[in-house]
Amino acid sequence: MSDALQEIHDFLPCRTPAAWIENALANQDLLLIDHAHCEKKAASTALSLMYRYVDNTNLLNKMSRLAREELRHFEQVLAIMVKRGVAYTHLTPSRYAAGLRAPVRKDDPGRLVDVLIVGAIIEARSCERFAALAPFLDEKLADFYNSLLKSEARHYQDYLKLAEQANGGPVDERVAEFMAIEQPLIETPDSEFRFHSGPVID
Ligand SMILES: [Fe+2]
Ligand SMILES: [Fe+2]
Repeated sequence: MSDALQEIHDFLPCRTPAAWIENALANQDLLLIDHAHCEKKAASTALSLMYRYVDNTNLLNKMSRLAREELRHFEQVLAIMVKRGVAYTHLTPSRYAAGLRAPVRKDDPGRLVDVLIVGAIIEARSCERFAALAPFLDEKLADFYNSLLKSEARHYQDYLKLAEQANGGPVDERVAEFMAIEQPLIETPDSEFRFHSGPVID
């Protein structure tokens, strides 16, 4: 295992449950559609940070590159969907992102620190899920998901460093508070299968 992936496993509170992997393999069209939404949303989150924090040059540079990479990922997912005849549709968002954002503070600088921590967690979880899924996928999709690992691991690092910068020091305690929310979102039964959902038990 790469050092980057090891670091992500150490950062996250738990691994993706085997039941979620089974859900994903049984719902591969939905997996791709929601994945496309996630890439688009990741670019959009980065852009909104660029609108709000115009005086933070480091953030502007990191988020601009990140947004470009997420849009490139979006184009790659869309190309795979077209090749496989999977139509892009609207989806209800999963409970994951809303649940994770619930404790974000309303005012800066706390707001920025929290939004960046949530960004780091979502990138880390995405990276962990790509790695967990890849061994079970067909070669084409496995290659694509393995190729996404590196950039998502770097996005996790970028978000975490920006959070420390915004906080003026370590963010471990605040990260732990968010992880206490993340773990049940990943491990407890969910109502609908999504890229970041818990397992759906029927
Ligand atoms: Fe991405
Ligand atoms: Fe990313």
